[in-house]
Amino acid sequence: MSGEVLSLKDVSINRGDTPIVHDVSLTVAPGTVTVVLGANGAGKTTLMDGIAGLAPVTSGTIQLDGAPIEKFPVYKRSQAGLGYVEQARTVFRTLTVEQNLLVSRSGKGDAEKVYELFPELKKRRSLQAGHLSGGEQQMLVLGRALISDPKIILIDEMSLGLAPVVVRRLMHAVKDLVGLGIAVLLIEQFANLALEIGANAYVLRKGRVVFDGPCDEIRGDSERLHEFYFGAMPTDAVVEAGGENQ
Ligand SMILES: Nc1ncnc2c1ncn2[C@@H]1O[C@H](COP(=O)(O)OP(=O)(O)OP(=O)(O)O)[C@@H](O)[C@H]1O
Ligand SMILES: [Mg+2]
Repeated sequence: MSGEVLSLKDVSINRGDTPIVHDVSLTVAPGTVTVVLGANGAGKTTLMDGIAGLAPVTSGTIQLDGAPIEKFPVYKRSQAGLGYVEQARTVFRTLTVEQNLLVSRSGKGDAEKVYELFPELKKRRSLQAGHLSGGEQQMLVLGRALISDPKIILIDEMSLGLAPVVVRRLMHAVKDLVGLGIAVLLIEQFANLALEIGANAYVLRKGRVVFDGPCDEIRGDSERLHEFYFGAMPTDAVVEAGGENQ
């Protein structure tokens, strides 16, 4: 097969009985960050949930390193090398930083590898995670996915509620993951920050891919992005950000 880490072909995904994601084809190349963008309700999380096995894939194929996984339960996808940082995922606040890492590993994972990527966490390894700053907590959330040696990590909006300067640090950390040979599929509300570190981007609208191409092509082009998010609008139309539902 191809050399892609992750490859989706014509994938449709339901929420319960409701079709949400329609015929999505997408690839993530080794050593790259691939960005998924779209308005609120466009189906980004549903797409990730379908890949991870948390929402039913009704048609199409999903391959991880060339092997089909769409029929696997969640734990087998994880064993096959798929890490998932879910939207609004948090740390165990009363456990120490190190305990957070150790309870998250499957098998052999080594906390030192996480500390190499996040020296901030090493300094605080014995601190209760609830005392970390918001940005450090997100680093720990990333570290919890990293410790099990995934081939790819799906990251769903880890920047919620964080200041742009902190988000920038996190984006650098995501880029560093790629340096460790881990591919990333990234959903991010700060589109331009994600497009800075990404190679390719996909934009979803109403569960369908409306743009697929290099990040360079849409970075900084807010007009074009807006059109992808919401469709071409009459000039006098009032658009409320986040108002688009399936
Ligand atoms: N459990 C569910 N049952 C039925 N519909 C759902 C369920 N979860 C989400 N949906 C619907 O699926 C659509 C896509 O939601 P999804 O959460 O995938 O969007 P999103 O792009 O991740 O949005 P956001 O940017 O707000 O996180 C929305 O219309 C939402 O209302
Ligand atoms: Mg979402």
